[in-house]
Amino acid sequence: MQITTFQQYEEEYKKSVENPEQFWGEVAQNFQWRKPWFKVLSWNFKDPEIKWFEGAKLNITENCLDRHLAANGDKPAIIWEPNNPEEESVTLTYKMLHERVCRFANVLKRNGAKKGDRICIYMPMVPELAIAVLACARIGAVHSVIFGGFSAKSIADRINDSQCKLVITADGAYRGNKQIPLKDVIDDALIGCPTVEKCIVLTHVRTPVSMLKGRDVWWEDEVKHVNDTCEAEEMDAEDMLFILYTSGSTGKPKGVVHTCGGYMVYAGYTFSNVFNYQPGEVYFCTADIGWITGHSYIVYGPLSQGATSVLFEGIPTHPGPSRFWDIVEKHKVNTLYTAPTAIRSLMSFGEEPLNGKDLSSIRILGSVGEPINEEAWHWFDEKIGHNEAPIVDTWWQTETGGIMISPIATVTKTKPSFATLPLPGVQPILVDENGSEIKGNGVSGNLCIKFPWPGMLRTTYGDHERCKQTYFSTYENLYFTGDGCLRDEDGYYRITGRVDDVLNVSGHRIGTAEVENAINMHAGVVESAVVGYPHDVKGQGIYAFVINPEMHGEADLTKKDILQTVTRVIGAIAKPDKILFVSGLPKTRSGKIMRRILRKIAEGDTANLGDTSTLMDPAVVDEIIEASRR
Ligand code: PRX
Repeated sequence: MQITTFQQYEEEYKKSVENPEQFWGEVAQNFQWRKPWFKVLSWNFKDPEIKWFEGAKLNITENCLDRHLAANGDKPAIIWEPNNPEEESVTLTYKMLHERVCRFANVLKRNGAKKGDRICIYMPMVPELAIAVLACARIGAVHSVIFGGFSAKSIADRINDSQCKLVITADGAYRGNKQIPLKDVIDDALIGCPTVEKCIVLTHVRTPVSMLKGRDVWWEDEVKHVNDTCEAEEMDAEDMLFILYTSGSTGKPKGVVHTCGGYMVYAGYTFSNVFNYQPGEVYFCTADIGWITGHSYIVYGPLSQGATSVLFEGIPTHPGPSRFWDIVEKHKVNTLYTAPTAIRSLMSFGEEPLNGKDLSSIRILGSVGEPINEEAWHWFDEKIGHNEAPIVDTWWQTETGGIMISPIATVTKTKPSFATLPLPGVQPILVDENGSEIKGNGVSGNLCIKFPWPGMLRTTYGDHERCKQTYFSTYENLYFTGDGCLRDEDGYYRITGRVDDVLNVSGHRIGTAEVENAINMHAGVVESAVVGYPHDVKGQGIYAFVINPEMHGEADLTKKDILQTVTRVIGAIAKPDKILFVSGLPKTRSGKIMRRILRKIAEGDTANLGDTSTLMDPAVVDEIIEASRR
């Protein structure tokens, strides 16, 4: 199943386009099914309705765990590196992981969970997080993992949207030198969540927490009451595997739904190929399992291929900026998959943190989550890969389930800042505003995909119409990614960033409307408009223009209050980097905010505001420019 030469890539690609069903049918043979499919694919992008491996039965955990036991049971599945480097790291072999997943699956059952129930997971980056995810999949429950940085309100919205019955959390989490009181946040969230019956709490940071009688139980107590045998639930290929909430251009985050069969095949196939994973190698993806990268490339992809996956609790700069390099040296990491924001942040410390670090184990490097600028690409290439490790710049999205456009390590010739070529089975197309295809090379346009792939989203939870409107209605018969893209003379793709009102801050997706709604919840704020601007480390920063007539000279304090409000409503990741108080916003005569102008002001490019003739009150713009310079 592994592509090893460029010629083979071309052949496989051709086959995948000419006969997708045969191609994916053959790829899927490399996985373990309880019952085969009767049809590889049926689809239409109109409704949309997409089914892969129809009729097939499986359990993804049998592919990620059971099938490795006989030959590789003693091989490390997960190596856990704690936040504090003084603490011992933990290695779980496939056998150990299998036992723990089965045991915790029984805990879930004991607490009333069954196939189809939704379960919210809000945990630190500890092995138990992977165990919780896999235990849900084992019993056929649908997990909805929420990143540990989200606020109580965000959690409550997500829990209520998918009507979760159970929550799995911990007393707290470490993040660098900070401690996050996860259980307190959950307690606040659950005040408004009538569907939650049970909450399972892992002891991790050993901080006192309140345990509500009848609802809250300790992980450590529960596992004592069950054994470690748990037959995997038989799932249909199109049964739901998980929901993952992500931001869009409208206010409320969407619950992206992935299903069992197609997602498994896609995550496993792309992992094996893109990273050219070799048996015995140590693979380290620095993402958090709270995001899609962690789902597909810390848990499901690597484990389905019997790989060794490093799970790191902390952050790249704690206790110092050599932390990643220490981890690489300590665990002899062969593949390092990280985000441009981390690379830029580490770059800013210069070469000192690299001194004396043995990075010779590194064979493959990967980047994900946002466009990687050339400077960061070259630094990564030279300082970390010593010009020998290919960099796979992987473009994909929560909705795509797995990597879509990317070099295949050791196979595809790389080019700085280019995601290069589509993987087999992926049919990208560039279109103009009217949806007409832009053919040829040396062109740019909006990136769409014209044919289904197994890992694609099937719906948005509880609101199929929203899925249709968001992804399949902008252009007829195409999946619209929301990204702008250029295709150069070599046919290589370079993703240029979002073309909708979605920001990408440190690789995290944040909707401008979401941030505006949060700011507007602050007493005194009448209206606000949020745009992104180039930020040296984060890629994009958040710039908020705020109308607050109630403010009486206490600008700094009011700014802090607004930041606090955003932290409460969404979480610290959505805090604006800059707040500018203004008395009006540039609007068209029909009342639409002209964000284009605000973006220019945020970028400091006020000389090129473009056409302002449709503005209702052009004087507002001068005033904002004036204020932005103060
Ligand atoms: O704009 C693209 C950017 O991240 C968006 C997807 O975000 P999310 O669903 O959170 O998933 C992130 C991890 C897969 C995309 O629409 N993006 C992701 N990878 C790249 C990228 N932009 C440029 N280059 C990439 N390699």
